[in-house]
Amino acid sequence: MKVHLQTYGCQMNKLDTALVAAALKDAGFELTEKVKEADVVLINTCSVREHAEQRVFSHLGHLKHIKEARPGLVVGVIGCMAQRLGHKLLDNGTVDIVCGPGQIPNLTELVKAAIEKNQRCISVADNIRSIGCNPELEDFESVQTSADACLPGQAFVRAMHGCDNFCSYCVVPYVRGPEVSRPVNKIIEQVKRLAGEGVRLVTLLGQAVNKYKYVAGEKTYTLADLLYKVSDVEGIEWIRFVTSYPQKEGFAELMQVMADSPKVCNYLHIPAQSGSDRILKAMNRRYTAQQYLELIDTARQIVPDIAVAGDFIVGFAGETDEDFEQTVELLKQAFYKNCFVFKYSPRPGTAADERLQDNVPAEVKKQRNYRLLEVQQIISGALAAEFEDRQVTVLVEGLSKKPHLDAAGGGDNPQLVGRTADDWIVVFNGPVSLAGQFAQVKICKTSPLTLFGSLVSNT
Ligand code: SAH
Ligand code: SF4
Ligand code: F3S
Repeated sequence: MKVHLQTYGCQMNKLDTALVAAALKDAGFELTEKVKEADVVLINTCSVREHAEQRVFSHLGHLKHIKEARPGLVVGVIGCMAQRLGHKLLDNGTVDIVCGPGQIPNLTELVKAAIEKNQRCISVADNIRSIGCNPELEDFESVQTSADACLPGQAFVRAMHGCDNFCSYCVVPYVRGPEVSRPVNKIIEQVKRLAGEGVRLVTLLGQAVNKYKYVAGEKTYTLADLLYKVSDVEGIEWIRFVTSYPQKEGFAELMQVMADSPKVCNYLHIPAQSGSDRILKAMNRRYTAQQYLELIDTARQIVPDIAVAGDFIVGFAGETDEDFEQTVELLKQAFYKNCFVFKYSPRPGTAADERLQDNVPAEVKKQRNYRLLEVQQIISGALAAEFEDRQVTVLVEGLSKKPHLDAAGGGDNPQLVGRTADDWIVVFNGPVSLAGQFAQVKICKTSPLTLFGSLVSNT
């Protein structure tokens, strides 16, 4: 039996897909890249914006046609949309399996039941905000091996489940449940095993990962403590953590680990969302623009060459031109390496959707989105240009998906892509066997998003 897996959404979903893929393989299923040859199609979904859900619905529409010709095809929706919409997903007759993010340990059984008994199966949390620590999920997660890694030599490792922040626009707390920090010893065991299997970069995941808190006996472990412990694991060379919530508590300590441990990458993803205090308040973000910039200052004082990345939402309910100009100003001052900009999309059930009117016209959202990216591009371009003629260490991901004409020629070798510790994308020519390895690359040309160079050596 062949399974085709498709993933939308954030790193959490990528990790879940990897875990699901491993469990299915263990149960004797084969994975396929092609929908055409699949007996089972599973879609791991995201609910964060309406557009993400629409893409899944249009994909399901496509699968409906395929299913008309091949009625035996089993279709499953897993992830955040499964949790959000539950039974509703079964309505149009295409979907056979609905499985929430907390129920993925049951997925193999659901798939078997759907195939063998032709059953429609649903497994989602009834009251997601009341779920606590789930030992079954912990067991499912901690057996992760490098074969489940999303990229060679790299692995995502969950530090925390869920989110308790309830930013007024955000669906995540309703689909991923409350914050639960995973046990330190489980995480360390997992990282040791991954390191033994060749993983060099570990990225610790949490929606607000700097809120990590795990009590073991007398000791309360923070993210800083966890990072020191992961740094001690032999074989792990680089450690990242995403995403950080802009809070003062524990922040200086966190930056100090970055300064102290050569393994903790000098990279911080810390979304601001807006530069207007009025809008931040309406978003239920618990900081002002000034406080946010002070955190960035602290980061740069402790780790002078830190690369900072951010997220913004434009066109949030009630956002005026003046609010937006304050966002542009904050973006300039924060001097990000890069940032992600999203147009506000009201999500059913969130406080913003219930209490505020989505009153910024689509066209204005589009213009603001464009403008922020335009300003960021100038900053990114200037930061990228500083790399010219410098040699950088890159963890090679593999073949570059699209050919970059700007890259220097590399003889017979194909174009590879990798990243620096601070998350710059580097394109250069080299042997595919470098995937998952470190390499030294001399940068000769830059663009706002990508550095181009030539291979000096593999280290
Ligand atoms: N937990 C992370 C990421 C959450 S989702 C964090 O708090 O940073 C990733 C990004 O999507 C958010 O940072 C936010 O910028 C954006 N986002 C979340 N909800 C949104 C919505 N309703 N409309 C538009 N963008 C949204
Ligand atoms: Fe959503 Fe806010 Fe939690 Fe991030 S911190 S997942 S934006 S509620
Ligand atoms: Fe989307 Fe769920 Fe991640 S809503 S952003 S896939 S936690």
